Amino acid sequence: MGLSVTHRTRVPATPASDHAEVVWHDLECGSYRADLPLWRELAARNPGPILEIGAGTGRVALELARAGHVVTALEREPALLDALRRRPGAERARTVCADARGVELPQARFALCLVPMQMIQLLSGPSERARFLSRVRATLRRGGLLACAVLARVDPFACASGEAGPAPETVRIDGLLYTSRATRVAVGRTQIVIERERRILEPRGRSTLKALAASRTRLLRVEHNVVGLERLSPRTLQREGGAAGMRVEPVREVSATADHTGSTVVMLRA
Ligand SMILES: C[S@@+](CC[C@H](N)C(=O)[O-])C[C@H]1O[C@@H](n2cnc3c(N)ncnc32)[C@H](O)[C@@H]1O
Repeated sequence: MGLSVTHRTRVPATPASDHAEVVWHDLECGSYRADLPLWRELAARNPGPILEIGAGTGRVALELARAGHVVTALEREPALLDALRRRPGAERARTVCADARGVELPQARFALCLVPMQMIQLLSGPSERARFLSRVRATLRRGGLLACAVLARVDPFACASGEAGPAPETVRIDGLLYTSRATRVAVGRTQIVIERERRILEPRGRSTLKALAASRTRLLRVEHNVVGLERLSPRTLQREGGAAGMRVEPVREVSATADHTGSTVVMLRA
């Protein structure tokens, strides 16, 4: 599941044996790199064990593990965590398959807890976030840091009303083309809804991306993917972090790129 609206065509190669869920996750999240320098910087400034919550296939956790940090990757989808465990750097990472909303975390263990790519906005409402924040605070060492990326700004669009929207993300695996295209972003009072159309195509000619552009493909499968994010301002999250007993530090920004929306990273110190 990807929460930034992206339109790139380069993603990490995913072995054919992987589950479709892994392919879509890598396609929609895997090419994002704009936030990595900030996570590396925070890891260097907050020495000690790191917990990533909602680690997916390890884009962030494995980057930090490969740089020599001690990382625990927590993720609720077993297929994503299985893929993470087979990737370079995984031998240095611990993995926990659990739902962050209910998991028992060790007390005062981590120096840094990262919540990238707006995962915090998948929690529903203030009370679920409050329970999450108090559990994270308890698992941080005294002076440990929680850093949560929140969607900074989102521009609604709808392909159905004639707006073009971003170009599809495309990857070829085992001769098949997987394409994912954001078709609608709607901003409601409490939720941001991101809709995607995912297609699996069989190219007819030898070329793949070119064949796709020329429509020389056979459609094997199409699915509609919908992700709902809570609307959450950095200020609200700071207030909630303060109520959970954490100290608010200045936010950091991850700028938008040509391919991805930007995010504001809320910093809360235990
Ligand atoms: C947008 S992805 C980000 C993946 C990874 N952190 C990255 O930045 O590439 C969000 C991830 O959070 C996971 N997730 C969502 N809700 C969760 C929960 N309640 N507990 C654990 N993981 C969760 C999803 O399965 C997904 O892999």
